Amino acid sequence: MPGASPAEAATMRAAVQHRYGPPSVLESREVGRPQPGRGDVLVQVGAASVHPGDYFVMTGEPYMVRLVFGLRRPRHGIPGMDLAGVVAAVGRDVTAFRPGDKVFGWSSAGALAEYACVSARKLASLPANLSVVDAAAVPTSAMTALQALRDIANVRRAQTVLVTGASGGVGSFAVQIAKAFGAEVTGVCSTRNVDLVRSLGADHVVDYTRTDFTRTGTRYDVILDNVEAQPLSDVRRALAPTGTLIPNSGRGGRWLGPLGRIARARVLSGFTRQQLKPFTSFGKREDLLTLADLLATGQIRPVIDRTYPLDEAADALRYVGAGHTRGKVVVTV
Ligand SMILES: NC(=O)c1ccc[n+]([C@@H]2O[C@H](COP(=O)([O-])OP(=O)(O)OC[C@H]3O[C@@H](n4cnc5c(N)ncnc54)[C@H](OP(=O)(O)O)[C@@H]3O)[C@@H](O)[C@H]2O)c1
Repeated sequence: MPGASPAEAATMRAAVQHRYGPPSVLESREVGRPQPGRGDVLVQVGAASVHPGDYFVMTGEPYMVRLVFGLRRPRHGIPGMDLAGVVAAVGRDVTAFRPGDKVFGWSSAGALAEYACVSARKLASLPANLSVVDAAAVPTSAMTALQALRDIANVRRAQTVLVTGASGGVGSFAVQIAKAFGAEVTGVCSTRNVDLVRSLGADHVVDYTRTDFTRTGTRYDVILDNVEAQPLSDVRRALAPTGTLIPNSGRGGRWLGPLGRIARARVLSGFTRQQLKPFTSFGKREDLLTLADLLATGQIRPVIDRTYPLDEAADALRYVGAGHTRGKVVVTV
């Protein structure tokens, strides 16, 4: 469309994949810009973050993800969920947002692009103190941490909470949210991340390269195990007799991912007073609003590890797939 302004152009740049596979399946392409449906908002994406779930969907492994995202090839074609940006247009039924509003949230698919269509129910206004890069880093990881600690473990003031993977996307939010709930927090991380986890407010930090938290004799009311590096039986040694353990790693076998471990935890929980509660997080606007408040009041802050330009989205996903992220990885658009 020669002469058209960027806002009027019918196409956009996006990271596109036509088959499941390693990050090299992603290509930077010019594609048609999506049109908002009645309840949708067309967001001009400023930044989109990527997390291990995006990596699983890109690779199509564990294979069970294909039941949801397309059996033979990815149904959506543009990966990425979490985003922040500016409202470019709204569907007929949308009253909560107007063009020009700054928003953040999660799309069903397609955040790694210049524009994404998002249901208005999956967006919130950007807190004034947040950049688009910071805001894009929030939705899935922070909602997972919030739901695990508040809804599944019911964390209360003065309880002791241990978070493994405390330096990662979920863990870095979990440490701060548990502190905001008044808990005494222990973060487990590697040597290079000890200072970071302490700076997030952890009362105690266990360097897993030196100390195995399952063998110290300390028992915790709540354990959010984002890594599951130790067998469940070992982790239970560090859990109070009626404490709550949330095994939360999505990693696992090629076919079923973590499902085998989840099934074992569920069966075992029928035979012990300890609460073993694997769970699946889900996007909920109310929770995004709760997080917006925590961000606006400075009770939580995103940790940004690296940013990549959209043309290098494959490198961003490669880095996330390696599993050593320090906070969040964000793609700027
Ligand atoms: N239940 C759900 O619905 C749900 C939702 C979202 C995510 N998840 C899962 O939650 C897990 C964490 O996600 P994430 O986004 O936080 O991952 P991430 O950003 O990749 O973070 C993982 C962190 O763990 C650290 N780590 C590695 N080995 C460790 C060990 N033995 N002990 C302590 N820390 C260790 C890594 O740093 P170093 O390697 O430098 O130590 C890294 O900082 C993933 O498996 C994901 O699939 C589940």
